[in-house]
Amino acid sequence: MEGIKEVMVKEHAKIAILLEKLEADIANNQEARKDFQELRSYMKQHFYIEDDAIFSIFSNMNDKEVSSIFDLMQEHGLILGDLNDVEKAITKNLPVDLIKLKKDMKEHFEIEEKFFYPTLEKELNENQKSFIVMKVHEISKRQSEKPAHK
Ligand SMILES: [Fe+2]
Ligand SMILES: [Fe+2]
Repeated sequence: MEGIKEVMVKEHAKIAILLEKLEADIANNQEARKDFQELRSYMKQHFYIEDDAIFSIFSNMNDKEVSSIFDLMQEHGLILGDLNDVEKAITKNLPVDLIKLKKDMKEHFEIEEKFFYPTLEKELNENQKSFIVMKVHEISKRQSEKPAHK
């Protein structure tokens, strides 16, 4: 079975591609709207899986570890806020600034890949790990079955 880190790093790469697509289509409002919906729904599912994983490990951790792991959830909130700002601009057909979203996302992904996923590998039991990997495969599959809009 693939490890959590391996699977999640692939997910980050997929999210980065969805964001690049949005960036490439940004001048075409209609395309940008579709790209945005796709990006946000994928990211929300990714965060949901991670938040769930955080809840299953935090009881095993000391205070310092708990606080750094809860920072990740706060960052999910921050990134969802960035997405709301982008959505507002797209909906009003105003110039869209993706810089903050890109920066916050990049930093968040880096921390997760370096610290969070290795912690999950260490703290979760085999059942919990395979459950997460299965969930990730489910959302990827759903995503790839969606009709392409181009
Ligand atoms: Fe995350
Ligand atoms: Fe992540």
